[in-house]
Amino acid sequence: MPAVSLENVSKIYGGDTVALDDVSFEIPKGEFVVLLGPSGAGKSTMLRVLNGLTEPTEGEVLINQQPVGGERSEVGMVFQMHYLIESMTAFRNALTGALSRSNFAQSALTMYPEEDKRAALKALDTVGLLDEAGQRAGSMSGGQKQRVGIARALVQQPDLLLADEPVSSLDPKAAKDVMRYMKEAAKERELTTVASLHQVNIAREFGDRFLGIRDGELVFDGTREDLTMDIVDQIYYGEDGKERAENLATTAPDRGDDDE
Ligand SMILES: Nc1ncnc2c1ncn2[C@@H]1O[C@H](COP(=O)(O)OP(=O)(O)OP(=O)(O)O)[C@@H](O)[C@H]1O
Ligand SMILES: [Mg+2]
Repeated sequence: MPAVSLENVSKIYGGDTVALDDVSFEIPKGEFVVLLGPSGAGKSTMLRVLNGLTEPTEGEVLINQQPVGGERSEVGMVFQMHYLIESMTAFRNALTGALSRSNFAQSALTMYPEEDKRAALKALDTVGLLDEAGQRAGSMSGGQKQRVGIARALVQQPDLLLADEPVSSLDPKAAKDVMRYMKEAAKERELTTVASLHQVNIAREFGDRFLGIRDGELVFDGTREDLTMDIVDQIYYGEDGKERAENLATTAPDRGDDDE
């Protein structure tokens, strides 16, 4: 049974902005899926529909065969901006991931159960930050902050991990580090993951499967081998992609043809 299933999902904002147009796909448990598409294609909308923050106008989203947005917080989310509490340690920030699971009043009084504390340390270990657990988030590098954000999502013990441009604000090396840890975490926990990325070369390196969205439509669904440069151009520039991509070469996204 699929871990995630979208059935004929459409999202129309304000009566006329079609952000998702009849999208259907299934994701088996543990698959690491990368969402690609130009700005405005509908990637963030897709991720919000997957975590239940946005209700589809039509269609259905199922996580483990259940409609998304049930009682359990089954979906963990990593954002482009980490949204950490800078004055708190990495450990405390990771612990806040347990807020949705633990008794809120108890957690608000910072009396987290031992098991949550253990989960926070384990998650920091997964993202390579156990030694930095006591460091203030505000004094960490951008890449480290993103890794704390991942740890916080892991503490939620989600069935599905979503990440919206998690490495956009990072330099290429930090971006790869963060992706490596996210991939490891997903593998270790057999965690189904969907991440939107703008850097095609990084996407290629870490994705098991790629979904291309353009104007709200799913225009590509395939493996690394299927994701040729022509396909990348089609996702970003449309059917006549290649020709236009050549004309627009100077403004093209990083197509990843050069191996740094
Ligand atoms: N809350 C909203 N209200 C109205 N329109 C919206 C809203 N959110 C997104 N849209 C519109 O829906 C479309 C898809 O937007 P979305 O943010 O999902 O794209 P995206 O692929 O994430 O783009 P980017 O790469 O720039 O983040 C766009 O036309 C956008 O303007
Ligand atoms: Mg977006």
